[in-house]
Amino acid sequence: MKPITLVLSTVLGVAVVAACGTVAFIYSGAYDIGADAPHSRPVYAALETLRQRSIRARASDITVPDLSDPQLVLKGAGQYAAMCTACHLTPGQKDSEIRPGLYPQPPNLTQARIDPAQAFWTIKHGIKMSAMPAWGGSHDDMTIWSMVAFLQKLPGLSPEAYKAMVAAAPPDDDMDMDHAK
Ligand code: HEC
Repeated sequence: MKPITLVLSTVLGVAVVAACGTVAFIYSGAYDIGADAPHSRPVYAALETLRQRSIRARASDITVPDLSDPQLVLKGAGQYAAMCTACHLTPGQKDSEIRPGLYPQPPNLTQARIDPAQAFWTIKHGIKMSAMPAWGGSHDDMTIWSMVAFLQKLPGLSPEAYKAMVAAAPPDDDMDMDHAK
């Protein structure tokens, strides 16, 4: 056997063994899929980096519209109050019933400021294998931008200011999704 053939067949052999091992591991049921069984550190770090790189790459060519319109911000406040608070909290709220059981943990958006283009992409498309839904299926782009506009104001908002904004929010047309009526 020529040295190159030996190298190639060794590489192929190792690849086949690794593939069989992976399939056997998947079928064995040994992997704990429970949300209460945390990833090992390297796996968590790899997934975290994968998420960040994926979102950054996809958000890079999104053009951010003018988000300063107070009406847009108020619309976003109403959307946020209706759909996001159980996971992402309101000013002054420490925890919710759903949050301790979520893995990965949703960021507390009353404290974290997210880049607008990345927030838009994430809200529209969601994040696989996490609790973050893709809201783009049920909301148009401008409604999603309203949420992004509100998220720019949310960190540092007092509980009173938050309540006042939600109370002043326009009625939510998207809530017409109640087909049972
Ligand atoms: C059922 C829980 C849940 C709901 C409801 C939810 N999210 Fe999320 N969201 C998550 C989780 C979990 C993550 C983090 C996923 C991860 O780290 O992989 C996330 C991530 C995000 C991020 C990315 C934050 C970052 O650090 O880049 C944004 C922005 C966001 N959500 C906005 C929203 C908005 C706006 C709504 C309401 C329209 C919403 N989410 C509703 C669970 C939820």
